[in-house]
Amino acid sequence: MGLRTIRELGDEILRKKSKPVKEMTPRLSTLIDDMLETMYSAEGVGLAAPQVGVLKRIVVMDVSEGRDQPIVMINPEILETEGEQTGPEGCLSVPGKHAEVKRAQKVKVRALGRDMNPYELEGEDLLARCIQHETDHLEGVMYVDVRTGPLLDNAAEEEYEEEEDGTEEKAGS
Ligand code: NI
Repeated sequence: MGLRTIRELGDEILRKKSKPVKEMTPRLSTLIDDMLETMYSAEGVGLAAPQVGVLKRIVVMDVSEGRDQPIVMINPEILETEGEQTGPEGCLSVPGKHAEVKRAQKVKVRALGRDMNPYELEGEDLLARCIQHETDHLEGVMYVDVRTGPLLDNAAEEEYEEEEDGTEEKAGS
């Protein structure tokens, strides 16, 4: 187990398409453990393998309040989308920034778990947003490409929120 370095916007690897996982290996199992540890350590809600420099179709997420409900998606495929939501989105590969992004409100995804057994997952709101954000990473797409508003500085926003006594938090993935 160990923390991996998170690649940042401008790193070519983030722009490449990741390859499907054919079989679970000890190496990939360690990668998944490390990705979870890295995501929790960075206080993100999701992390995709290319963000730690590995071009494999692997995503980890946890949108729970208690940070105790990890989800592992291998070779995820979005099967259905429904509705629309627009809200602030951040990314661990674009530290200190966020922007408005329009996403589907609800998605249904099929993936393999870390045991390589297929499962389906339906998500709404933040989970739906996270699934779409992370599967985009596997295609080399970043939220800054699909954002619907300007790229904003979190620090400026936090200052504003303190003045307004706001408590909204920006989730990075
Ligand atoms: Ni991201």
